[in-house]
Amino acid sequence: MIYLKTDEEVELMRQSNNLLGMAYGEVAKAIAPGVTTAQLDKIAHDFICDHGGIPSCLGYEGYPCSLCTSVNEQVVHGIPSKDVVLRDGDIISVDGCVLMNGFQADSAYTFPVGNVSDDIMRLLRVTKECLYLGVEQAITGKRLGDIGATIQEHAESNGYSVVREFVGHGIGREMHEEPEVCNYGRRGNGIVLKSGMTLAIEPMILMGRRNIIIEDDGWTARTADRKPAAHYELSVCVRNGKADILSTFDYIKQVLGDRFF
Ligand code: MF3
Ligand code: CO
Repeated sequence: MIYLKTDEEVELMRQSNNLLGMAYGEVAKAIAPGVTTAQLDKIAHDFICDHGGIPSCLGYEGYPCSLCTSVNEQVVHGIPSKDVVLRDGDIISVDGCVLMNGFQADSAYTFPVGNVSDDIMRLLRVTKECLYLGVEQAITGKRLGDIGATIQEHAESNGYSVVREFVGHGIGREMHEEPEVCNYGRRGNGIVLKSGMTLAIEPMILMGRRNIIIEDDGWTARTADRKPAAHYELSVCVRNGKADILSTFDYIKQVLGDRFF
């Protein structure tokens, strides 16, 4: 069952996403060598709670934290820890959700920590391009496969690979609704997109081979070859002619200034 949202519901989703975006601005201020991922989790948790939201990853299927913090070869669902200290040259993917006024927000962002090598910066740029190219396909009358194929083509033509085990998803009153939004596929395949569908599009792109493993903590997904992974995510509403992006990286941009791309 795919729930089409009313304009009022879409505005509530924008508000939830705005709070998540503001929380990411606070996280962006803190990201630096020497900081632990547990500190980032606390910053996001407290900010979201102080502004009337619920950090809805906390307790979701037993997940123990408010953010997922995935460093370097970790792809998604890295668990924040006081033992994980960021170092110069790392990358960290931050992923979280906010529930507010009955509606979920979901977005993710991979940050460089200090000075990151050119080849890893290229992975970040291309992954963010994959996200926006996918978002451009989230318009009335296109098909789900158009999103996936567009993302896959951009990633693979740049020499990268696409994760198969995790996908984007519908979003609304629930964090995960139908449909699944794959980051791979074939143009012209899959369901036809309708105005009012709200989707979380989230390419997970790998510098090396596409295989991943799950660590013994039961959550952390990392690349089998230990090469780096990047992950960017936006929640969007399908509209005629142009997708309406409900999430925002604007607060991250304000903090990063010249370092934002
Ligand atoms: N934000 C994630 C997503 O994109 C969900 C994280 S799983 C959780 O779907 F357990 F941490 F919530
Ligand atoms: Co998501």
